Amino acid sequence: MTIEREEQLEKLKAAGRAVARTMQAMAAALEPGMTTRELDALGRALLEQEGARPAPESTYRFPGATCISVSPAIAHGIPDAQVLKAGDLVNIDVSADIDGYYADTGGSFVIPPVAPKIEKLCRDGKRAMWSGIRAVKTGGKLNEIGRAVQDFADRNRYTLIRNLASHGVGGALHEEPGHIPTWYEPGDRRRIHEGLVFTIEPFLSTGSHMAVDGDDDWTLYADGGHATVQYEHTLVATKRGPVVVTMG
Ligand code: CO
Ligand code: CO
Repeated sequence: MTIEREEQLEKLKAAGRAVARTMQAMAAALEPGMTTRELDALGRALLEQEGARPAPESTYRFPGATCISVSPAIAHGIPDAQVLKAGDLVNIDVSADIDGYYADTGGSFVIPPVAPKIEKLCRDGKRAMWSGIRAVKTGGKLNEIGRAVQDFADRNRYTLIRNLASHGVGGALHEEPGHIPTWYEPGDRRRIHEGLVFTIEPFLSTGSHMAVDGDDDWTLYADGGHATVQYEHTLVATKRGPVVVTMG
């Protein structure tokens, strides 16, 4: 989607607040003994309160309102009877629309106790995402995002999952521009135009390079099973810089 009027921005921001608050409340509710289905039920109730419709379900008939991926799963995990336990690394991804305006956010969280290496990975996962967000310039190239994220990953000796990209959002959960790499692709000549709405969601890993299928139709794992985190915001490119709409 391209934002052209203030009224559109306000509607996108409302959807952004709804998914951000829902993800934050779900993260705060994480505790050992809870099932991922219970966590999803909380997310569904919160989205409903906000007047938001879960996008994975409405768009793809995903079996849940939110995606909950417990390590070694990294994305698109189905809420089910899995019981959360101390030390679990859990990714929560929430996307929804209000009146046809879609926003998408995600984050990885640990149920204490947290191993120092994982705590650092989580902190660096957010830094990787923000290095991409800071690279957004109206008129600039889309691949500057991936260049910045990859610079961060290389400098800090991490890898990036290279088959899960960021994407246009706003008028639908996934729309043009599709496949926005969060790694450097020198040949990508696409530019960021004013008002463009898209996500930035690098998957930062301690050694994996690809997401691979498991034994259901949805859940994705990191090849080699290395610890991997994802942080995601939805933003709008403006002349004054990126406006993040999923801060809560
Ligand atoms: Co997402
Ligand atoms: Co996304």
